[in-house]
Amino acid sequence: MAAFSEKITLISGTAHRALSEAIAEALDIPLANAHVGRFPDGEVDIKVLEDLRGSDCFVLQPTCPPVNDNWVELLLLIDTLRRSSAGRITAVMPYYGYARKDRKDEGRVPISAKVLANTLIVSGANRVVTVDMHAAQIQGFFDVPVDHLYAKPALLGRLRQLDIEDPVIVTPDVGGIKMARGYAKPIGADLAIVDKRRISGSEIAVEHVIGEVEGRNVILVDDMISTGGSITEAAGILRKNGAKSIVIAVTHPVFCGPAIERLANAPVDKVLVTDTIPRGENWPDVIETVSVAPLLAQAINNIHHSQSVSVLFED
Ligand code: R5P
Repeated sequence: MAAFSEKITLISGTAHRALSEAIAEALDIPLANAHVGRFPDGEVDIKVLEDLRGSDCFVLQPTCPPVNDNWVELLLLIDTLRRSSAGRITAVMPYYGYARKDRKDEGRVPISAKVLANTLIVSGANRVVTVDMHAAQIQGFFDVPVDHLYAKPALLGRLRQLDIEDPVIVTPDVGGIKMARGYAKPIGADLAIVDKRRISGSEIAVEHVIGEVEGRNVILVDDMISTGGSITEAAGILRKNGAKSIVIAVTHPVFCGPAIERLANAPVDKVLVTDTIPRGENWPDVIETVSVAPLLAQAINNIHHSQSVSVLFED
């Protein structure tokens, strides 16, 4: 990696231009002048229209659906920067796609998260920044620094404003206990767990609730909603077990397949999500977006000035 100058460049892919603009505004730095489009056959077409030599470059691109398209665009942006003699290249991926396939949990399947991590490095990324990666151990797939940020301060800020009385934090599956504890501790809430079993990619079964939810105000937390099966089934069983109100707080609104319909019909009072993924036009009003742009802007600022990033998450 070449030494980088004081110069900083923010360059946006097309996956989530609004978030890139919000980050740029928070940093008071304009987005780089670049054309990122498509050739007539759908291949990615990129041309940066300013000098990048020696610059500390941050490429802003969540790899949300259409994940393959957004991923290839990110790789080609990184390659563009490397071939333009950028000083350092950081892939800022507010949502890191393919993170759910992080191990060989049965025969004859790929470890997609590792393959995709390799592509970032081969293209020329020197550093990765991401938010609530589904499996934190994916950081080990990289031999470059990974700054793993948490959306918790943003979501917790909004939850505090809602002033939910006597809340109980619930995780829709056992794997989410650490995240749930992270929400419960700062607000002094109890913890409960929904016992979930995945039947297929879009179907799950919930059988038990471990912990006390009857007559309580539930805050259901998770890293992502994909098809919405996990969270809406969990909401259903929590209501059956007597939950008084349910607010969902989730970082990544992937929302594919029947997710929107499931959420619109779910027995929940509010769905808080962040803007790591763009808001869809068809989202019902029950879904409220909280921005992680200030958090990402602060992390970029600290990385550029070689300051601590973990300091942003000290309670
Ligand atoms: C599972 O481990 C994750 O944390 C999410 O609960 C899950 O990926 C959500 O998927 P879906 O919305 O399709 O149930």
